[in-house]
Amino acid sequence: MKRYVIKLGGSIITDKDEPLSINIPTLLGIGEEIAAAMRATDLSLAIVHGGGSYGHPSVRECLDRKGVMDEPCYVRTAYLMSELSLMVTQVLIAAGVPAVTLTTRSVCAMKSGRPDCELGIAAEMVGRGLVPVIFGDGVLSDDGYEVMSGDDIVWLLAKAMGDAEVVFATDVDGIFDKDPRKSPDARLLKEVSAFEALKYVGGSGRIDVTGGMRSKLVKGLRHARGWGRAYVVNGGRRWNLFNLLTGKPFIGTVVWYQ
Ligand code: ATP
Ligand code: IPE
Repeated sequence: MKRYVIKLGGSIITDKDEPLSINIPTLLGIGEEIAAAMRATDLSLAIVHGGGSYGHPSVRECLDRKGVMDEPCYVRTAYLMSELSLMVTQVLIAAGVPAVTLTTRSVCAMKSGRPDCELGIAAEMVGRGLVPVIFGDGVLSDDGYEVMSGDDIVWLLAKAMGDAEVVFATDVDGIFDKDPRKSPDARLLKEVSAFEALKYVGGSGRIDVTGGMRSKLVKGLRHARGWGRAYVVNGGRRWNLFNLLTGKPFIGTVVWYQ
């Protein structure tokens, strides 16, 4: 059975330029495709989503003011991320996906600067055909609070599921030989190693407190060297995710983590 962890980037499930905005049409489309793919083929799935315009402005504000995530910031970010995740889960359920919210800060912490999660229950849910939904969040660290990115959690979950593959649903069609937002002549790469991709990829120019496409690749190298495989696709391109999940031709980039 094919196993995937799907990361829904904050920039596709929310409008990053508009605080506390959720992109319902895109989410409904993604939900419809995931539900259809689960009906069409045997799949084990988990979903991780980002913070987008719920998480990032909340964390940015306290980092700018204090330089760290303090207690009020952690409390506010936790509340907002739970609210966002509940809405994501609601839309997925409406589309027919057996989605169940898991709260990151209850199962993950930063220990000596490293993300550490207890994902046994999540893996068991996947084994029963449920689709756990977990997210980037504020978590306890050794002496305070930190942000844990969904781009870290995907790999821990992929490992817990038995080396699942990771699908990054982003706002671009894949990895290009230069930033497609800045260069209209950028060429889409069909397949690339994470090391090579680093040559082409910049950070995120927006409100991102967790690092953009570059840090996505670096995090994969940290967690999944030797076994990881990821797909970078455009989450807004209708039926593309369905095609990928059901083994049909799709538009996107395959990334190897050797
Ligand atoms: P986020 O994690 O911020 O919510 P996301 O997961 O959808 O969103 P980002 O981490 O922002 O995606 O990464 C996607 C962005 O990376 C694109 O919008 C693009 O501008 C930028 N980027 C920079 N260089 C490249 C490149 N060579 N190929 C593809 N995208 C690139
Ligand atoms: C960030 O998670 C979580 C918070 C800001 C609280 P991600 O790093 O996974 O979020 P996106 O995908 O960039 O929005």
